[in-house]
Amino acid sequence: MAIRKIARMGHPVLRRPTTAVLNVSDPEIQRLIADMKETLADAQGVGLAAPQVYATSAVLMFFVPPSRAAGGDANEDGVPLTVLINPEIEPIGDEQVGGWEGCLSIPGLQGYVPRWHRIRYRALDETGASIERDAEGFHARVVQHEYDHLQGVLYPERMTDMTRFGFAEELMRHPMGEPTNAE
Ligand code: NI
Repeated sequence: MAIRKIARMGHPVLRRPTTAVLNVSDPEIQRLIADMKETLADAQGVGLAAPQVYATSAVLMFFVPPSRAAGGDANEDGVPLTVLINPEIEPIGDEQVGGWEGCLSIPGLQGYVPRWHRIRYRALDETGASIERDAEGFHARVVQHEYDHLQGVLYPERMTDMTRFGFAEELMRHPMGEPTNAE
């Protein structure tokens, strides 16, 4: 395993849509997954998508810490580290909610981003088994954020209010009345 370099906004690899994984057990894919896990842990993020480590396969991973689980209830269970390969997402209902996001490819910044409150996602896991889950709140948010990376989309493009975009350090010093929910 190896820690890979993380691409930063402005690098064209983050704009390139990924291609579907045809064979999950391909050693190159398994190595990518192992390296992404190590890279994510090293960077102390909650999610990572393949383009962020200069790879072009439709692979993402995320976890939900218990403190950010549905409803923001610290007693809720989180979601353990989950690998999604060739994911598909559909919204459940039409409710959107705003929340603060950050991105390992946009270090130091945070923005307030509207996302679907509830989604259903389908994917393969790292063993090639099918996953289908309903998600809401932060769980739904992080999956939508990472899924966007696979399409070459970064969170600032999803923002509707650019006054709520800034350096995390300053935003924390001058809160805008919303709890930070950054990844
Ligand atoms: Ni990101």
